[in-house]
Amino acid sequence: MSILENKIREYRHLFEEHSSKIKEKREVEELRQLFFGRKKGLLTLLFEELKTLPPEEKKAAGRALNEFKEEIQQQLVQLELKAKTVRPQEKIAEDLTLPGWKPYWGAPHPLTLFQLAIEKIFVSMGFTVEDGPEIETDYYNFEALNFPPHHPARDSWDTLYINDKLLLRTHTSPVQIRVMEKKKPPIRIIIPGKVFRRETADPTHLPMFYQVEGLVVDRGITFAHLKGTLEYFIKALFGEKIKLRFRPSFFPFTEPSAEVDIECIVCHGQDPACRVCGGSGWKEILGAGMVDPQVFKNVNIDPEKYSGWAFGLGIDRTAMFAYQIPEIRYFYENDLRFLRQFNRK
Ligand code: DAH
Repeated sequence: MSILENKIREYRHLFEEHSSKIKEKREVEELRQLFFGRKKGLLTLLFEELKTLPPEEKKAAGRALNEFKEEIQQQLVQLELKAKTVRPQEKIAEDLTLPGWKPYWGAPHPLTLFQLAIEKIFVSMGFTVEDGPEIETDYYNFEALNFPPHHPARDSWDTLYINDKLLLRTHTSPVQIRVMEKKKPPIRIIIPGKVFRRETADPTHLPMFYQVEGLVVDRGITFAHLKGTLEYFIKALFGEKIKLRFRPSFFPFTEPSAEVDIECIVCHGQDPACRVCGGSGWKEILGAGMVDPQVFKNVNIDPEKYSGWAFGLGIDRTAMFAYQIPEIRYFYENDLRFLRQFNRK
């Protein structure tokens, strides 16, 4: 038997001796180094020796050496699988006076929390919460809401089309139609959800954001009910002292229509350079109005018997205002440093 083969036997014995004592992954690595270390590894040196053998011995010795190498490699893999990983923390965990690791529990997103606060106020007034599809037909998103094809009001609700008939809804208003088709008055609902517009992202715009829609239909409903309910809602959300104002506006599905502004809670109208309200002292948060008789006709509700009011509020922009957040994009970046501020327990 050649000297090399003798060494193989000797090293096999050595390997078995070491491997029988191994417990940790770190020790497997040490053993690997003992055999395969780049300069002094036992096998590395044997391969060096192989080069010096006379050609007639080289072939057989080379085969034996390669087989041995594979054998050791396979055993190292097995040892690696069996050995434990011992992390430095586990070692110091024996010191019971050290503070423990606190797991991070998931928590609702700030926009979810804000939406829930809104729902709670309306539910306390007897409203129910509804939802509808985010992919809508042109009929529900526009036509049934009294936007005929080519009506110029469609321009400010430009959106992402899936094909000629299907689009990503531009507002939560189509769900008004879906609900009125199914339920007869009295109706008292809110509809929170995602909406989509063709927007370029900037500090106050994103192509996707949240709205909450409201709808009340019954006999004898007047603009006074709209004003009273929205005033109650905004005071419940921002506190009794908040001032609000109704401005005339236009929406194809309401007549008359209004936009509602609330007093700037940052400068109270005192700072002409206020970054939140632009110095006007007011911030628009919702659109509203009395349901247009044509909308009732589209869903077979008799406008001679019934009347109603509706509103649509931007959840993101109202939350930005309430929490004084200068960037709508913060809500969607998933930065835990931002998100955790809303869940102090
Ligand atoms: N859908 C409108 C928008 O997205 C908001 C709105 C205005 C909703 C008046 C209403 C309403 O229900 O009555 O800008």
